[in-house]
Amino acid sequence: MRGFTSTAALLSLPLAAFAGNAHVGSLRRRHIDHARSTSAIERRAITYNLIDNFTQQAFLDNFDFYTDADPTHGLVTFVDKDTAKTDNLAYVQSDGTIVLAVDDQTTLQPNQPRNSVRLQSQKQYNAGTLFIADMYSMPHGCSTWPAYWMVGDDWPNQGELDILEGVNDQTTNQITAHTGSVCNLVTNAVQTTGRIVGETCQSSNGANAGCNYALDNNATYGHGFNMNAGGVYAHTWETDAIKVWFFARQAIPADITSGNPDPSTWGAPAAEFPSSNVCNIGDAFQNNRIVFDITLCGDWAGDAFNQGSCQGTCAQAVADPSNFVDAKFKIASLKVYGHS
Ligand SMILES: *[C@@H]1O[C@H](CO)[C@@H](O)[C@H](O)[C@H]1NC(C)=O
Ligand SMILES: *[C@@H]1O[C@H](CO)[C@@H](O)[C@H](O)[C@H]1NC(C)=O
Repeated sequence: MRGFTSTAALLSLPLAAFAGNAHVGSLRRRHIDHARSTSAIERRAITYNLIDNFTQQAFLDNFDFYTDADPTHGLVTFVDKDTAKTDNLAYVQSDGTIVLAVDDQTTLQPNQPRNSVRLQSQKQYNAGTLFIADMYSMPHGCSTWPAYWMVGDDWPNQGELDILEGVNDQTTNQITAHTGSVCNLVTNAVQTTGRIVGETCQSSNGANAGCNYALDNNATYGHGFNMNAGGVYAHTWETDAIKVWFFARQAIPADITSGNPDPSTWGAPAAEFPSSNVCNIGDAFQNNRIVFDITLCGDWAGDAFNQGSCQGTCAQAVADPSNFVDAKFKIASLKVYGHS
């Protein structure tokens, strides 16, 4: 999230994009039969136990509202919990969905910041964990820079993982890691469905693109994600590797739905950040908090504003509230599992 990344593929997408609201139970129908691979060396499945069930009000009760200036220089004011509640920027819908939103009511003058939210978990996490975020929709559109990510308080020395992140009218997700120590991705060292676009995870305020994987499916981000009623981003964090999977709504494995997740059956991840002789994941990631935020313009969305189909300036886009009707995370649940 901190990282400015110029390598993102920004493709054209009509602005008339609208968020899919079809988050009906019937879409959760398909049970995929995940046959275990018998050809490869079979890894013993880890038994996970639920340690945090951030569902409905429990989500808002266990996250703090960050109200400092946006470190990525966005044209936003991150509001406190009371303001977010009053202005409907963070609430639980009647069906239990958690909504995090940008103000889509107020007309501003260009260069005035727009109200938005940035939430971070009170709890910090370490290796030996599995995170499963089920979302129906996510923010997208000109000037937006939404992210679901994890980060340590001491950046970049405690690491940062951007699980879901992009800008403006981007159509596919990019998954990024930032570390304080040397950590390089080695092309072809692991099997992933995502494609490496940056190999240098070590980041500083001067050079913080991080290492990243680009996904190639428009169901992973923005308009395409929302039209499909979203899906699940799941990631395992172990000292030997961090792995991230995406499952579109129709392809969520039954073991996730039933609350007995077994990543050993999920196939190749979208992104993998392995420990190796050029990277120590165990040292690079410590005490991370979970963060959801929606910033506008700033270091990435602002600088890349005219690389896609967005017209005018980023600040002009921010001034018009109609650009933010779809700038919402709609979160079904966020579950954190651990293992012994
Ligand atoms: C998680 O919380 C929700 C809402 O309170 C509840 O319905 C559900 O049963 C909980 N899940 C587990 C596995 O405890
Ligand atoms: C996503 O990509 C598919 C295949 O290229 C295309 O048919 C579809 O229209 C795209 N969806 C959106 C919402 O852009």
